[in-house]
Amino acid sequence: MISSPLPHRIQFHVDPIFRDEVAQLPWRVPISEWHKYGVRPLNIHRGISRHVVIFVRAGRFTFGIKEISEEISKKEISNYEELLLRGIHTLIPVGYVVREEEPVAVRTPVGVQYEAGNISHTITLLVEKVLPDSQLYTRGFSFDNRKRIWDAIAELFVELHTNGVYWGDASLANTLIRFEKVDEPFVGKKTTLKAYLADAETVEFRPSVSKAMREAELNFFFESMEWMNENLRAGGSTRDELATVNDQQYLRGRYGMLSAVEEKKKEFERLTSYNIDRFLGQIHNPSYVDLFMKHIEEHKWYLSERSYAPVSLKEAAHDWYEYVYKPVCELFRREKIVDLFPGKTAAELYIEIMTNKYFLSQKIGKDVGMIQAMHNYAEKFGVTNPFLERIKSTSDKLLSIFTGKL
Ligand SMILES: Nc1ncnc2c1ncn2[C@@H]1O[C@H](COP(=O)(O)OP(=O)(O)O)[C@@H](O)[C@H]1O
Ligand SMILES: [Mg+2]
Repeated sequence: MISSPLPHRIQFHVDPIFRDEVAQLPWRVPISEWHKYGVRPLNIHRGISRHVVIFVRAGRFTFGIKEISEEISKKEISNYEELLLRGIHTLIPVGYVVREEEPVAVRTPVGVQYEAGNISHTITLLVEKVLPDSQLYTRGFSFDNRKRIWDAIAELFVELHTNGVYWGDASLANTLIRFEKVDEPFVGKKTTLKAYLADAETVEFRPSVSKAMREAELNFFFESMEWMNENLRAGGSTRDELATVNDQQYLRGRYGMLSAVEEKKKEFERLTSYNIDRFLGQIHNPSYVDLFMKHIEEHKWYLSERSYAPVSLKEAAHDWYEYVYKPVCELFRREKIVDLFPGKTAAELYIEIMTNKYFLSQKIGKDVGMIQAMHNYAEKFGVTNPFLERIKSTSDKLLSIFTGKL
């Protein structure tokens, strides 16, 4: 039972930045009728949804507005806030707006009760330039292109699960995909596909997400892929059955791989105080973390030998980063070596050239050095003649880093 509220009183629970724009909208009427009140809803592609969702422009902003119960909109907005705090790619919450309605009479075994009939709205900022999910399944869209999308989705799932977040409604419709520019250490801005969590009603925060829950989340998502297939079939487009199975296998594999990388990165950060993504660069292979660790351990050994005193792993990591890793990667950037290997990050180049050095040395029976290793690596990757000159001049500078410091 509630006390009788004033009819159509509007409550604004909105971030002050957006308050003026939100207040301009006709909250006294249902959002499905706004077009009659001078508001022009934008025709924006959106995933299948249970609730009424509209997109509107108001002053400086464009909002996504979902009509929903008061309790859930409040929870959803606070979920978005917590997700952002945990560094997860998700919608920016604007707030929720409640329209107070007359209480509704509900018959119960103990007589008639009055329940709040309030209507509420979850408001988020519109994410623009999203790739339509249906495109993923059209024949023209190659498996290779689709893999980049599964990569982005696997990354989102790993981000969620390693941060103690269980989504509970992971579906294609609730995942927004778009191109984004991200800062890549020693490379600069790089365009990459990113997946966003849209629809945070069911999100739960836990100390950790168990293996069974991770499995359930993936399976739920796989089901959503099947629905998409069904929808497309119903809509007349065809696609071979196997495609979905391949997609699922790929996504599962990628998720497993990235989860392993994430675990190792955490351990690496605990031991060295270095966050790999922020300082070294993106890597997608767990063994690369082990290799970085091995280089730092070797550097630690070298430093202790040189100073006749024990050196801690953290000290060694710092010294290695400042006097070996950073100068090498800065050289890669200055000499535009990274451009010769499109798609590779500085961290991957560093590891791959170092690994090449190791194997070449093993084969010949003596240390071949960085320069030969880099030449050989460039040849393997089919870098053509004019660029080999650039590699040559870079090699000489690389030599000075290694002979100067080591
Ligand atoms: N801020 C936003 N920017 C872009 N798309 C959005 C935004 N909010 C919602 N959408 C799209 O609208 C769909 C429906 O919203 P959602 O919150 O999932 O509603 P429901 O709870 O009914 O499923 C989402 O799946 C997403 O595709
Ligand atoms: Mg949804």
